[in-house]
Formats: sequence, structure tokens, C-alpha cells
Amino acid sequence: MSNFTAGKLAEFELFTDVKPAVNQVDLNVFNQQPDDLKFMQDRHIQPEAWGPFAEGKHGIFTDPTLTKIGQQYGKTPAQVALRWLLQRGVVVIPKSTHEPRMVENMAVFDFTLTDADMAAIEAINLNASTIDHEVTPALIDRFLTIRVHD
Ligand SMILES: NC(=O)c1ccc[n+]([C@@H]2O[C@H](COP(=O)([O-])OP(=O)(O)OC[C@H]3O[C@@H](n4cnc5c(N)ncnc54)[C@H](OP(=O)(O)O)[C@@H]3O)[C@@H](O)[C@H]2O)c1
Repeated sequence: MSNFTAGKLAEFELFTDVKPAVNQVDLNVFNQQPDDLKFMQDRHIQPEAWGPFAEGKHGIFTDPTLTKIGQQYGKTPAQVALRWLLQRGVVVIPKSTHEPRMVENMAVFDFTLTDADMAAIEAINLNASTIDHEVTPALIDRFLTIRVHD
């Protein structure tokens, strides 16, 4: 599944016999969605974060909280942001076009954030969707004009 909110998942559960395995959603330190995360985990649906760096928005790579926590472990804010998601049971798919950053983004399995670190990161939640546009009736109408050719 992709971008299924708890509400959409509940409808899916109600009207089909298919059990979703993975749901890829907009999840990061600035868009934490604790209720949707719990809903997925209660049903054993694996949450997967797209945009785990919020696509670089909100100054994530220089965020003071992530920077300060990272300094304790010799880790970058990016690594702390990924580790926080992993410790919440979320699969992460960060994107980078730079090899050193790919290596950096994979080096997140040799340290553990404390409960205090996790709580400090919870406090930087902005409830900010990474997607700028709203799904309006006009947008849906535009999608419906797209024709798929065989
Ligand atoms: N299912 C969906 O609806 C959906 C929606 C959007 C995206 N996605 C998928 O999710 C994946 C990731 O999403 P995304 O690319 O939008 O956002 P993202 O992974 O949150 O952020 C990518 C940005 O972070 C930079 N970056 C990566 N590692 C870094 C590091 N260690 N230090 C500093 N900067 C770093 C990248 O720059 P550089 O490349 O220059 O390193 C790029 O600008 C993609 O594969 C995408 O296809 C899925």
C-alpha cells in the first residue's frame, strides 16, 4: 500500500479480505503521525517511511535537537533522524544521489537512542505533511481526465 491513512486502511480492512503487508507513508521527525503508526502496528502492517528526511525541508540536516543528540554518538542529524524511525519500528527508504551520503545513511545500526533522546525528538514534531498540495475535488477531477492507453 502507499499513502493509506488509518481511515483508508480501516475501509480497506472492512471491505476486502486482503491483508496489507507494507504501507509506505510520509513519516519523518517533522511528521510523526503517532496514531496512524499505532494503527498499522496493531494490525501487523509494516510501516515504511518515504521521505524519511522530509525531503530536506524544515532544516532537518542542521536541526539543533538532532545535532545535539548526534554529537553524543558521533552521528549526523541525518543518521539520528533515520535511527529514530527505525527504533519506532519503521522501515526507512532515504534517497541520496551521493555515494558518501548513501554510506552515511546505512551506518545507523551501531548506536541506540535512549528513551530521553526519543522523547526529545518527539517534541520537534510539526505535524507537517511533506506534500505541499491538498487533495481537492479539482485535483481529483484533473486526475480523472488522465487516460490510460492499452
Ligand atoms: N510513495 C510515495 O508517495 C512517495 C512519495 C515521495 C517519495 N517517495 C520515495 O521515497 C524515497 C525517498 O524520498 P525523497 O527523495 O522524496 O526524500 P528524502 O529521502 O526524505 O530526502 C532526500 C533528500 O535528502 C538529501 N540527503 C540524503 N541523504 C542525506 C544526508 N546524509 N545528508 C544530507 N542530505 C541528504 C538528498 O540529497 P542528495 O540526493 O543530493 O544527496 C535529497 O535532497 C524515494 O525513493 C522516493 O521515490 C515515495
